[in-house]
Amino acid sequence: MGRRFKLAFLSGKSWSHSFIKEFYSMSAGIDKIAFFTSPYFIDMTDLANARGEDPNKYLIGIGQQKQAVIPPTQDVVTLAANAASSILTPADKASIDMVILGTESGIDNSKAAAIYVQSLLGISKRARSFEVKQACYGGTAGIQMGMDHLRSHPTSKVLVIASDIARYGLNTPGEVTQGGGAVAMLLTADPRILVIEDKTAFHSDNIMDFWRPLYRREALVDGHYSNNVYVDFFNQTWRDYQNRYQLAIDDFNALIFHLPYPKMGLKALRSIVHESHHPTQLMAAFDAAKTYNSQVGNLYTGSLYLSLLSLLANDTMLKPHDRIGLFSYGSGAQGEFYSARIGDGVKPDDLRQQLNSQLNNRRQLTIAEYEALYETSLPLDGGDRTFDTRTDHSPYILKGRIDNRRQYEYQNGETGSKKEQPAK
Ligand code: HMG
Repeated sequence: MGRRFKLAFLSGKSWSHSFIKEFYSMSAGIDKIAFFTSPYFIDMTDLANARGEDPNKYLIGIGQQKQAVIPPTQDVVTLAANAASSILTPADKASIDMVILGTESGIDNSKAAAIYVQSLLGISKRARSFEVKQACYGGTAGIQMGMDHLRSHPTSKVLVIASDIARYGLNTPGEVTQGGGAVAMLLTADPRILVIEDKTAFHSDNIMDFWRPLYRREALVDGHYSNNVYVDFFNQTWRDYQNRYQLAIDDFNALIFHLPYPKMGLKALRSIVHESHHPTQLMAAFDAAKTYNSQVGNLYTGSLYLSLLSLLANDTMLKPHDRIGLFSYGSGAQGEFYSARIGDGVKPDDLRQQLNSQLNNRRQLTIAEYEALYETSLPLDGGDRTFDTRTDHSPYILKGRIDNRRQYEYQNGETGSKKEQPAK
């Protein structure tokens, strides 16, 4: 909470016009952020060789170097719990009063993955806890809902997690754009990482560029059409944002994008970068902002926020209070362009160290190992199943399913010794 606002609040100051104005202009946004992905990856040159493609198509044409392979022992609940557990203190867990999980890889048509995560992490039960879906846009929807909640409840803390597993199928054109992982963000007043402005433009339309019917594990996609629609939605929301707020491209120090694959964001940026008087800076910022996405692949709802982490950790020009623009896109389709200011508490060296150590400690799989893991999952038609969890040392894992109930476990420490995490 802003200091002046806090003083007014504590002194019981009356709700004058200026006080209400200050209340609504208080600073809020991302105070903490963390990423988690699987301990396994494949190299894109190996995949290209196995699929009879020129490796440069994947490395340059798509812009992807490596791809996370999500084992059956991880689902959107464990990915989310693993991401959030690394940033939440006991005090955070006690004061979070909203948990929003954005995903399009949900595990249940009724019960929200957020409820499982809340229980696994021991977050206060005095919270609203639910799941949001609109393809890759779910995380942004969660952030905007969380911001609205904070504007009327400034002492609250809101946990927003974007968690997904991107699957197109073996030997498909989309295979090179698979991946998965989760980004957890704690939204508060007076945030240290990113101050989210109340400036946004959105656009939606009923189109069939990418979708996944209930009976399918893999997405259906009209790939080239989806690329074109993405750029159209970016241009629509960008123009609308400019008209609403009278801001030009030179008012931004960086523009970041939902990155289904790195080349996609580049195509969108190239469509407007000629408007800038500092195009080199925007291109350099984009280069920094694709760093980890090119090592992980698409994580659907979390991709824009992994790009944010990449930017914060690797851009050498950004300073506190610089403005950045964020373009979120979810097929089907929903686009949103909004803006934010860099917070005072970003520590690029720490972020880089954390992310590099996580990504460099992954085990590389052969294409045959990846294909075997890809085909292993809980049967869609029910039935009990126990997974071999010995090689997945992530803190939270999915052991299998018994009597239609997913079995989650918390592994205490790196030795693999296990204990159930008590639900609070
Ligand atoms: P494709 O048809 O196999 O590839 O699939 P291509 O022939 O279009 O080639 C890709 C690029 O590589 C091209 O560059 C080629 O020129 C280049 P571009 O013209 O696009 O700039 N290329 C080479 N470059 C260097 N050396 C070479 C070489 N050969 C070719 N030797 C496609 C590509 C992306 C369509 C496919 O992977 C796909 O369908 N992916 C999934 C859909 C997708 O990611 N769409 C993105 C927009 S929709 C979105 O972002 C939403 C989403 O995240 C879902 C959600 O919202 O939930 C997907």
